[in-house]
Amino acid sequence: MRLLVTGGAGFIGSAFIRLSLADPAITRLVNLDALTYAGNLANLPGVDADPRYRFVHENICDDMLVDSLLVEEKPDAIVHFAAESHVDRSILSASPVFQTNLRGTFSLLEAARARRVPRFVHVSTDEVYGSIPAPHEAAEDDPLRPSSPYSATKAGSDLLALSYFTTFKMPVLVTRASNNYGPYQFPEKLIPLMISNALEGKPLPVYGDGQQVRDWLYVDDHCRGIRAVLDKGREGEVYNIGGNCSLANLEVVHRILAATGAPDSLIRYVTDRPGHDRRYALTSRKLESETGWQPGTDFESGLAATVAWYRANTEWMQAVKSGEYQSYYARNYGHRTG
Ligand code: NAD
Ligand code: TYD
Repeated sequence: MRLLVTGGAGFIGSAFIRLSLADPAITRLVNLDALTYAGNLANLPGVDADPRYRFVHENICDDMLVDSLLVEEKPDAIVHFAAESHVDRSILSASPVFQTNLRGTFSLLEAARARRVPRFVHVSTDEVYGSIPAPHEAAEDDPLRPSSPYSATKAGSDLLALSYFTTFKMPVLVTRASNNYGPYQFPEKLIPLMISNALEGKPLPVYGDGQQVRDWLYVDDHCRGIRAVLDKGREGEVYNIGGNCSLANLEVVHRILAATGAPDSLIRYVTDRPGHDRRYALTSRKLESETGWQPGTDFESGLAATVAWYRANTEWMQAVKSGEYQSYYARNYGHRTG
């Protein structure tokens, strides 16, 4: 199988590339990534040595480039990860989010339609369902009620992708995963940010009362779920991918403090995120029954592996926290903490 992966220099895309290159059935893997602040070739150590791998440093919004890449590489499938992926950044500045998540997805869909790519997996998120009151778990046919510019653009791109199945019979599949964690995650998201700050003895900024609930999914389990959808999913269908691990944010922070040995006194309650979704929860029954996929990593061992990775990769962390990260941190947290 010849694969075109978009956003493969990011957190989940790079994990998917590592998983895919371990499989001899993948005969070609092209990684199309614009290397935004979140894209980092250090997330893919050693892959250049693999003759099946090619990196293309371009933007998915470039229609001509995307089209000519499909003509040249003739992929059997596109797995589309590329996105502006962070809620807080989408609140600070929604324009890049709109551009990549909607315009970029449109560009890929148009080119894939014109060049008759046999499979298109659009990677999305449980955030499109919006805040879910307990004890409900969102299923694939639940209404979409996105709250942030990030989740609204993901919901829009899901609908656009599915419309290409309905209207053009394009072989589109959509995955919606819960919150991922694991190695190589950029320290703007809850778990890597808290691990990094805890290891450095810096304050841990908890939004609001910290009782918001997320379902945590280890990144490799997510990637196996995407592969199961790629191989066995039905065209035109949506598949939820969850970790079966609902935890309040404050509980996650306490577990990180325990795993890093940092004191509880580092916790700071700060001004809440506007439009903050209280609870995400989803059921993955459909994916489990159709493909046999199950999340394999429990939170305790996944978190231990993640903390161990961040402890061992201080150079990676120093590099991603230099430059732009500092100004982002000041913009997002300065007014919250005073
Ligand atoms: P990330 O921010 O770590 O990486 C995004 C990647 O996309 C980066 O390498 C970046 O350079 C690239 N990119 C951004 N704009 C681009 C453009 N215009 N052209 C080409 N490349 C571009 O994101 P992630 O956390 O790995 O998320 C990957 C996908 O999974 C996203 O679609 C996201 O919505 C989805 N998702 C993420 C989570 C999560 O918890 N992180 C959960 C569910 C779904
Ligand atoms: P995040 O990792 O940004 O993922 P998402 O908003 O997409 O679910 O945040 C996870 C939860 O953690 C969310 O409820 C917001 C909260 N949070 C904090 O309390 N403090 C922080 O500094 C961050 C980044 C997140």
